Amino acid sequence: MITLVVNKKKHTLEASPDMPLLWALRDNLGLTGTKYGCGIGACGACKIFIDDQVTYSCLTPISEAIGKEITTIEGTTPNLQLLQKSWAEFNVPQCGFCQPGQLIAATSLLNSNNNPTDQDIDDAMSGNICRCGTYQRIKKAIHHTVELKKQQK
Ligand code: FES
Ligand code: FES
Repeated sequence: MITLVVNKKKHTLEASPDMPLLWALRDNLGLTGTKYGCGIGACGACKIFIDDQVTYSCLTPISEAIGKEITTIEGTTPNLQLLQKSWAEFNVPQCGFCQPGQLIAATSLLNSNNNPTDQDIDDAMSGNICRCGTYQRIKKAIHHTVELKKQQK
């Protein structure tokens, strides 16, 4: 049996420690917000946090997450919640498939940069592919979230 802490809750599951964390989240724990896109670390759809590090769950074995805090799109952090609000306001998603990974990447950016430039956003989001081409709306929603954060102060 393996114990994982996901979104601040303990889960026990029976799985091989070598199995990609993505399958544990989706198939064992039913947390299907994290998506399977490429399986090779190229699209960003499977991004999650392990402790505070953005991680490709398709490439990460379960064993690397044991004893650490996993946060998925179903989790809550102040920046993630505020970004989700902006995402809704700017109607960012088209098909929606890439958006959980996009939101995790954007959360990571705002966790380390309170006022990102367009270039900072391009750099931070470059590992996330959107086949629907929502990049401009993503950028606007991130800038808007920065404004929301300023208003909260
Ligand atoms: S599914 Fe993990 S990066 Fe594409
Ligand atoms: S919204 Fe469809 S892939 Fe990004």
